Amino acid sequence: MKRILTGLKPTGDLTLGNYLGAIKQMVNMQDEYDSILFVADLHALTIYQDPIELNERIRKFIAMYIACGIDPEKNTIYIQSENEFIPAMSYLLECTTTYGEASRMIQFKEKSKQNANFSVGLLTYPVLMAADILYCDCDYVPVGIDQKQHVELARNIAERFNNRYGETFTLPEPLLSETGTKIYDLKNPTKKMSKSEENPTGVISMFDDLETIASKIKGATTDSLNQVHFDPENQPGISNLLNIASSIANVPIAELEENFKGKGYGEFKKYVSEVVVNHISEIQKRYEEIINSDMLEKVLNKGIERSRELAKEKYELMKIKMGTTRKDLKKQDN
Ligand code: TYM
Repeated sequence: MKRILTGLKPTGDLTLGNYLGAIKQMVNMQDEYDSILFVADLHALTIYQDPIELNERIRKFIAMYIACGIDPEKNTIYIQSENEFIPAMSYLLECTTTYGEASRMIQFKEKSKQNANFSVGLLTYPVLMAADILYCDCDYVPVGIDQKQHVELARNIAERFNNRYGETFTLPEPLLSETGTKIYDLKNPTKKMSKSEENPTGVISMFDDLETIASKIKGATTDSLNQVHFDPENQPGISNLLNIASSIANVPIAELEENFKGKGYGEFKKYVSEVVVNHISEIQKRYEEIINSDMLEKVLNKGIERSRELAKEKYELMKIKMGTTRKDLKKQDN
């Protein structure tokens, strides 16, 4: 059985973008793949997080994954920081990654510009992500397009390691959803919808109350062309709403365009709002049941046990391959 893995970083509330870019893909694939999903809490630490808020978000993320349809019976679900082999592997991988490669990552370039006192962790972040991906030999990594470059770096690091030390890692591939791969901010539809956005009017959080979601969609920026047409260049706002509705309702964009031919933006927004509100309302109902149950402990205990087992094995193999072991490698049979 092929394996898929992904993680989300708890730096703010989960957004509709996170759901459509990553979680929904995992839900769609969980019946046919060995599926692994985690909360990337170590990744959140590259920028200061209030400890109490971070702690709360970690549990909220896990409960929200399950509420979104991630089946704990079919998925290995865990908190990244509970697997101590991952940062240990990350160091070994840092030694097979060049400074040039790490500093060329777009997110590093953007974020290091925003704050001159950026942490070293911001630079090594994609290598930690490579460790997340490579420890379990996953075949595919379902992500939004903004993470594609990081998955490709993981693949390059794996390839270099394999060439240098012998076959050790499966080469992973990023997997992008057709319509959900980049959901834009509703107010500023040329910018990614992001959980760390300071102005929340363009960002739909999976935890927003339903009226807020409806009013955010109603207030979404559109254009003056007055045609429901998919044209990201000239109609970024409408194209974004088409992507959102198409991803959630599983209706092709062409069909939506056809259905709204000759109709106004008010009617179209009303439809998008209904689709999104109904969908998130069901998710929120399940969330309330899960967060108030004792289910999370059991799910996380089972998940971390499996994740640690896989990572321990890979970490020990890496150490042997690299020569950092008390065993006398000259005396080994292989
Ligand atoms: P993060 O937490 O920024 O985002 C989590 C996932 O959501 C996707 N995403 C989006 N997709 C569509 N539209 C958007 N507006 C949008 N915003 C975010 C992201 O592409 C991502 O798939 N470094 C990662 C977390 C991570 C990880 C990993 C992912 C750590 N280790 C290993 C995969 C494998 C991150 O910061 O994602």
